[in-house]
Amino acid sequence: MGDLINPLVLEWLNLAFRWFHVVAAIAWIGASFYFIWLDLSLREPPQWKADKGVKGDLWAIHGGGIYEVAKYHLRPQEMPKKLHWFKWEAYSTWLSGTGLLILMYYLQAQTYLVGYNTLIQSPGWAVVASIGFILGGQALYELLLRTPLVKRGLLFAAILLLVISVASYLAHLLFSPRAAYLHVGAMIATWMAGNVFWGIMPAQRKFVAAVSNNEAPDTCAMAFAKLRSTHNNYLTLPVIFCMLSNHYSFLYSHVYSWLVLVAIGLCLAWGRHFFNLKHLGVVKPFILLSSFSGLVLVAVLMAVTSPASIAAKQAEKAAIVTSAEQSVSTDERINQLIHVHCTNCHAAVPSQPGFNAAPAGLVIDSTVHLAAQKVRALPALSSGYMPLGNFHHMTDLERKTLIDWLAQQ
Ligand code: HEC
Repeated sequence: MGDLINPLVLEWLNLAFRWFHVVAAIAWIGASFYFIWLDLSLREPPQWKADKGVKGDLWAIHGGGIYEVAKYHLRPQEMPKKLHWFKWEAYSTWLSGTGLLILMYYLQAQTYLVGYNTLIQSPGWAVVASIGFILGGQALYELLLRTPLVKRGLLFAAILLLVISVASYLAHLLFSPRAAYLHVGAMIATWMAGNVFWGIMPAQRKFVAAVSNNEAPDTCAMAFAKLRSTHNNYLTLPVIFCMLSNHYSFLYSHVYSWLVLVAIGLCLAWGRHFFNLKHLGVVKPFILLSSFSGLVLVAVLMAVTSPASIAAKQAEKAAIVTSAEQSVSTDERINQLIHVHCTNCHAAVPSQPGFNAAPAGLVIDSTVHLAAQKVRALPALSSGYMPLGNFHHMTDLERKTLIDWLAQQ
């Protein structure tokens, strides 16, 4: 499908959407972090402010001036003419993210969405599965929110963790590992934008309408909106991780990459808990420490079980001393494989349609070049991530030949 658009135009569009997406996300998360901090940092107001209906008081300095912030129990005596709402930060983040998903993973599905050995090998069906995955995740989350389980905070967190774990496993069965990480991120980000759209905004609209008419607001709806907002707060760090992971193939190329995603996401959400408590004046260093130790443990476990270290061990065990003659012919064979399966993309001027420059800045057109990239190439080959899209149908045997050779370099 990407053939319909000039590849260079596609690249520019990708850059423009990515830029916008990152800026919008900074605005959304920035505003959300600020208001969480604000809410938890409000202090008892002086009596004269309390008499006017002020519930919390806060002073801050920024932009060269002193700011006085007041939160009302319900409303000020006179409703302000201009009330600022915060919703477009969330909506524009979601919309630009969806645009980026379409540009990269739908228009170039064979290259980025379809994985080596994954259940779906047709780009068209992979796109259908991707839409189903995100919509299905959204339906399930909204359904869970409407069950009585939602009132049991810790149990509900455990259920969400289970949903995310199953989603991560499923995404790895359906899509390429890189796309799988992105899809888990997109699913959770859709929950978050949905929380704003389906829950927080309607509740705020009702609240403003009620207090403007001097009626009692629906406290139940406000509490539900607050709950959704709390979910967003804990999900923020795992989502940012999923999005950034796309730049780190050692994560999604790992044998247990679906589990790595879940474990790191959990550590990050747990770490967020420390800061939420700290804003309330409760400092529990144990939380931050255990979150950090968890991340270190994941890194260590990943290193022990990484394809590179397993392949190296196998090579050591085999300890085959190849004769000079044999290694010459092996080198020739490897060179051949590189030229058929890698150099179409990894060249200064790639011949693969849709590529304008060496991807990731890597020119791979000889055994020396490939050997120099051993650390990144081993996991990329073992997980099937490379050759991307497998346009020239690399066989399992050819892959094994490359991996075995690389492990001995
Ligand atoms: C269809 C084009 C294509 C082919 C064919 C291809 N690559 Fe890649 N390769 C890419 C792209 C695009 C990236 C950058 C992906 C990213 O940013 O994660 C990449 C990135 C890489 C990386 C860096 C991964 C990292 O850690 O970020 C390595 C190593 C690599 N390729 C090795 C290979 C090898 C070895 C072959 C041949 C067996 C190969 N590639 C074939 C497109 C290709």
